[in-house]
Amino acid sequence: MTDLVALDADLTRRIAEAADLGALEAIRIEALGKQGSVSGLLKSLGAMSPDERKARGPEINGLRDRIAALIAARREALDQAALDAQLAAERVDLSLPPPPRRRGAVHPTMQVMDEMIAIFADLGFRVAEGPDIEDDFHNFTALNFPPKHPAREMHDTFFFHPDPETGERRLLRTHTSPVQVRTLQRTDAPAPAPWIANGQSPPIRIVAPGRTYRCDSDATHTPMFHQMEGLVIDRGIHMGHLKWTLDRFVSRFFETPSVVTRFRPHHFPFTEPSAEMDVQCDRSGSEVRIGQGRDWMEIVGCGMVHPNVLRNCGLDPQEWQGFAFGFGVDRLGMLKYGMPDLREMFASDVRWLGHYGFSPFATPTTAAGLS
Ligand code: PHE
Repeated sequence: MTDLVALDADLTRRIAEAADLGALEAIRIEALGKQGSVSGLLKSLGAMSPDERKARGPEINGLRDRIAALIAARREALDQAALDAQLAAERVDLSLPPPPRRRGAVHPTMQVMDEMIAIFADLGFRVAEGPDIEDDFHNFTALNFPPKHPAREMHDTFFFHPDPETGERRLLRTHTSPVQVRTLQRTDAPAPAPWIANGQSPPIRIVAPGRTYRCDSDATHTPMFHQMEGLVIDRGIHMGHLKWTLDRFVSRFFETPSVVTRFRPHHFPFTEPSAEMDVQCDRSGSEVRIGQGRDWMEIVGCGMVHPNVLRNCGLDPQEWQGFAFGFGVDRLGMLKYGMPDLREMFASDVRWLGHYGFSPFATPTTAAGLS
């Protein structure tokens, strides 16, 4: 009896005094672990006579339950204290005035888009746009994804509930390629604004920046990201024009001749032949660096516009050819400005934005410098 009282008192005192989760865990193992003092007492019940067990059993079980409850309560208190300390340390008071000289900054993605548009505008491209909420026709069918074809599964699509009347399922566009279709397709409806793509006549040279969505998340993928589509339609267009345009873009965008790129054959239903271009970089440290290292980051998918896409949009592929490309805008930002993790770009952490953001007064132009 006395040993139980002494053990109980000793454990109770030490649990109350445990300063952190590590110390508490050590006490738990010492008392309730396999070789623990309380566990030892529980084991000793087996060797007792029935009468003795009847008397001692409730006492020992009671001790075990009490100690377990004390440990749980202490753990909760320590967890709460740790959380309180973390919240106090990481507190950002949004009601405070902004720090001097940092009154809002341009998000790196928007900066990169402006830089890209400046370069493509110089090459004679216009900006076009399309909606974020698309239908199956523009996102897939018109782009030569056959119905029920596994290529549709290449994109982890966010679908809306089907329309109760038509059964049609709208979706968040998985790429900016539907803007190709909207640009090419003739329509009688006037465009709601000059930059909205609908129904242009060739020759065409457009870039289409915008948000895109896929159910995907890791260091180089986020459920929402940005692409910039490019589309050129003219007579006698070939792969050489595509390669020249991308090479030209990359050397101007990175503002250094030391960027190494590679073309890899690939498959997209809406281009033939298709390719992806990677930029050589180093991703071993806490920053991404270009012009060194052994890693490759894919930045653009591209190819010659598939004749079926031209036909689907009412153009004769014997007369018109073209190329198209789709850049990952956020990834270009990671590469150029050295951010290691794509997810941080959209976490809205004011410290991150303060560090990586750009001055709203320094609009990128090819004449005055991009960044
Ligand atoms: N839409 C493709 C993607 O999101 C990229 C692409 C655009 C490929 C244009 C070829 C032509 O992966």
